[in-house]
Amino acid sequence: MNDSGANFANCYEDVKRSDAYATLEFANTYYLAYRDLPAIIAEHWAGTKALDFGCGTGRSTRFLRKLGFSVTGVDVSEDMLRIARATDPSGEYRLVPDDNFDELEAGAFDLVLSAFTFDNIPGATKTRIFRDLAKLLAPNGTIVSIVSSPEIYTHEWASFTTKEFPENAAARSGDVVRIVVTDHQDRRPVEDILCIDESYRTVYRDASLQAIQVFKPLATGDEPYAWVNETKIAPWVIYVLRRAM
Ligand SMILES: C[S@@+](CC[C@H](N)C(=O)[O-])C[C@H]1O[C@@H](n2cnc3c(N)ncnc32)[C@H](O)[C@@H]1O
Repeated sequence: MNDSGANFANCYEDVKRSDAYATLEFANTYYLAYRDLPAIIAEHWAGTKALDFGCGTGRSTRFLRKLGFSVTGVDVSEDMLRIARATDPSGEYRLVPDDNFDELEAGAFDLVLSAFTFDNIPGATKTRIFRDLAKLLAPNGTIVSIVSSPEIYTHEWASFTTKEFPENAAARSGDVVRIVVTDHQDRRPVEDILCIDESYRTVYRDASLQAIQVFKPLATGDEPYAWVNETKIAPWVIYVLRRAM
């Protein structure tokens, strides 16, 4: 993977973006990211303590709470966390500047969920963070990481448009790519880092993790959403990770 996104800024450290993001729920393309999570998580269930890495405004944290987990949500954006705390005053939300996890208990988390967070993290940093997240896992713990598929940046979707960014098609793994969320009011492009499956596999190997399952959820066509490509092309990839033996 090249590292042209090395000086990348997290576009979620922004009040307008966080206010818009907070209005998103589980509809349209996002539905497919969350639809299969209860079954995936149940299959690897090892206990009730979870970390939501990149919790944003708390959508994914509240989702885990509803599944019965006791959840700590962490993020690097105070703007996102402010809304998470206001929406869910009894929840636990922490700022982790520079992804320093020293304040979190090593070996204590049965599940680490990361929903879309690694889309915003440059290559070399991905490895360091995955290694540190692995240290937080309980002995039978699992990391579930939902990321954007490379195809999301070159197609149209119920929740996203990329047609203003034809240059995405020439991007290599590690490059910055752009996408607009059409489900909320903030139509400024989100900047992500493209990361192909081969690059993720290298990151996992270097972080002493192994992908024990990979899911690419498709819509069936029976859902109440105006699908564009979602029945044919998977917008998300879900990796289930364990510490390598
Ligand atoms: C697309 S939002 C997803 C939020 C939430 N997981 C959800 O599903 O609604 C991505 C979040 O990852 C956070 N993020 C980006 N880089 C991060 C990092 N290095 N460490 C922790 N959080 C990060 C952003 O601030 C943002 O809140």
